[in-house]
Amino acid sequence: MRLDAITLFPDFLRQCADVGVVGRARERGLLQLETWNPRDYATGKYRRVDDRPFGGGPGMLMLIDPLRACIDAARAAAAGVDAEPAPLIYLSPQGERLTQATVRRLATMPRLLLLCGRYEGIDERLIAREVHKEISIGDYVLSGGELAAAVLLDAIGRLQEGALNDADSAAQDSFEDGLLDCPHYTRSDTEGTAGIPDVLLSGDHAAIRRWRRQQSLGRTWLRRPDLLARAQLDNDDRALLDAFRHEWLASQAKNES
Ligand SMILES: C[S@@+](CC[C@H](N)C(=O)[O-])C[C@H]1O[C@@H](n2cnc3c(N)ncnc32)[C@H](O)[C@@H]1O
Repeated sequence: MRLDAITLFPDFLRQCADVGVVGRARERGLLQLETWNPRDYATGKYRRVDDRPFGGGPGMLMLIDPLRACIDAARAAAAGVDAEPAPLIYLSPQGERLTQATVRRLATMPRLLLLCGRYEGIDERLIAREVHKEISIGDYVLSGGELAAAVLLDAIGRLQEGALNDADSAAQDSFEDGLLDCPHYTRSDTEGTAGIPDVLLSGDHAAIRRWRRQQSLGRTWLRRPDLLARAQLDNDDRALLDAFRHEWLASQAKNES
C-alpha cells in the first residue's frame, strides 16, 4: 500500500513511519510513505502557504494554491499506476470519528492521499472540491493534522499482510469483534505467578479460551457498555456475561460490607 501525505512537517511523519511495526512494514515493502510539502509548491518571494481569513477573526488559513499543486503532484506521481484516483482524506476535528472498522476498510486500499491541516485549517473551497472524506481522531483540537495522520498510518500499517509477525494478534485486539480485549499476563522475576488467574497456568486450552471470552465480555460491559449494546452475542456469550456480572456484583457487595 502507498500513502502520500501532504504536510508542512514531512520529517515528523517520516520519523513516525520509521519505528516499530510500521517501520518493519516499510522495510518489508508492504507500506510506502511519500510526503509532499506545500511550501515546495508555494510561489513568491516568501513562499507563503497561509493568509488571513476573509471576514477577519483570529488565525491564518492554509492557501488553496500550494495545496492543490501538491495534490496534483502526488496524483501525477501515480499516473498510470492507479486505476482510479486515490481518495483524498483530510484529517480534521470535524470529520467522521476514526474506528477500527474504518481502519480495516482503508487498509485494503492500494493508495491513499492524506492532507494535514495547520493554523485555523484550510480554505473551504479546497475541501469542497478535492476532499473525499474527513477523518477525526477524537473530539479535541490538535495544532496540526500530522499527529492524526501518524495515527492513521500506524493503524493501517500494522494491518498490512505480513507486517505483524503473528497475524492472529491483530484479529484478537480490542474492537475487532466489537468487544474489548481480555487482560494479559506474562513472566515476572519479582512477582512470580502471584495474581495470575489459575486457569491461565492450567494448560487447559478450552478453559483458557472460555475465560478470555468471558473477560472480554465483562470488560466491555464494565468499560464500554455502548460497544456491548451493539455486539452480536450468542447464548454462550450471554451465559458467560451473566456469570461475570454475578461474580462482579457479589465482589462489589462484599467490598462495601
Ligand atoms: C488548530 S486545527 C484547526 C481547527 C479548526 N479551526 C476547527 O475548529 O475545526 C489545525 C489542523 O489540525 C488538524 N486537527 C486538529 N484536530 C484534529 C482531530 N481531532 N483529528 C484530526 N485532525 C485534527 C486538522 O488538520 C486541522 O486543519
